Amino acid sequence: MVVWVRHGLALDRLAVPIVLAPLAGGPSTPELTAAVSNAGGFGFLAAGYLAASALAERLERTRTLTEAPVGVNLFVPGTPAPPQAVDAYAARLAEDAAQAGVELGGARFDDDDWAAKLELLIAMPVAVVSFTFGCPEPEVIDRLQGAGSEVWVTVTGPDEARAAVDAGADALVVQGAEAGGHRASFRDDPAEDPTGGIGLLSLLQLVGAQADLPLVATGGIATGGAVAAVLAAGAAAAQLGTAFLGCPEAGTAAVHRQALAGSAPTAMTRAFTGRLARGIRNRFLDRHSAAAPVAYPEVNHLTAPLRHAGRITGDPGLVNLWAGQSYELGRPLPAGQLVRALAEEARAALQQAQERLGRPADAGAEDEGSAAERP
Ligand SMILES: Cc1cc2nc3c(=O)[nH]c(=O)nc-3n(C[C@H](O)[C@H](O)[C@H](O)COP(=O)(O)O)c2cc1C
Repeated sequence: MVVWVRHGLALDRLAVPIVLAPLAGGPSTPELTAAVSNAGGFGFLAAGYLAASALAERLERTRTLTEAPVGVNLFVPGTPAPPQAVDAYAARLAEDAAQAGVELGGARFDDDDWAAKLELLIAMPVAVVSFTFGCPEPEVIDRLQGAGSEVWVTVTGPDEARAAVDAGADALVVQGAEAGGHRASFRDDPAEDPTGGIGLLSLLQLVGAQADLPLVATGGIATGGAVAAVLAAGAAAAQLGTAFLGCPEAGTAAVHRQALAGSAPTAMTRAFTGRLARGIRNRFLDRHSAAAPVAYPEVNHLTAPLRHAGRITGDPGLVNLWAGQSYELGRPLPAGQLVRALAEEARAALQQAQERLGRPADAGAEDEGSAAERP
């Protein structure tokens, strides 16, 4: 039997310090997860939007494809939004729905099958369980650790990092504002919007200065040079999302792949899901971002038929085209090949940096001497 849970941090055992981000909503597949872990990186399976039974099937399938450790990512549930805010937004979307020939979805609140997925992960432990949109209670973290998993918590600011350390996390996923998809913040607070969020390099330094835990850097990393940069800034690994969306193993929709091959700018929006996320600008995002309420997952359910229609009819203007700020640098390679190419580039980038920095002071003095002799 394959032993998926081992002792010591998963990060310390990686042949390549590259993590496949959980990519909920279609792109995450067992094939993608296994390909990254088989290449010596660390693959996550996204559990967001999946019922516990669907997650169990995906985990079983992943186990047939790799013996290497993998992780599962869960969304921490929030609280229901005031119904009036969602009703007003639904009225606004009626015209889009009529044009697309669909009915809007029911704007219901749910907890994403939280308790059942936790029980599944206690019964079928994986090497790492990571959390997004909040920090679980210390008892939940204890239970998962007791089952043999380590717990990573995604943070977007120093205050969230402190809370995750206090709750007993084993590592922090540090998400910069460049990141594609949802901002992982514990609370989605529009009052914070004008700050634009904290960029990855700043956040790594701020969190690193106060949290004595391994850090996994994520947001806008598309090249080996950027992998090297975050390692040099103290991260134990780099977690990439958008960079893997073009891989053949990913379940990324065709309209999304086409948009990733273009060059339109990205923007932050609540228009598709009711929670702040970064995607490539399109018709729906531009039309509705300013009016979209904080109401997740209600708005996600409301817009689901529109997004589905966009995917099947090939209309990118209706689809949430999640992408990080450096998406234009994506390479549609098989995932294992991409992991190896990124690692090779990172080694070269670090060597170049080393050469740039590595001359000892006295060698510099000798150079100065010889420079003085130059005409
Ligand atoms: C399509 C897509 C889906 C995502 N789904 C999740 C998810 O399920 N859980 C999560 O923690 N982060 C999710 N993210 C965010 C990633 O974990 C990560 O923070 C982000 O991809 C990093 O920025 P990058 O896309 O520029 O690499 C998603 C990102 C994208 C692009």
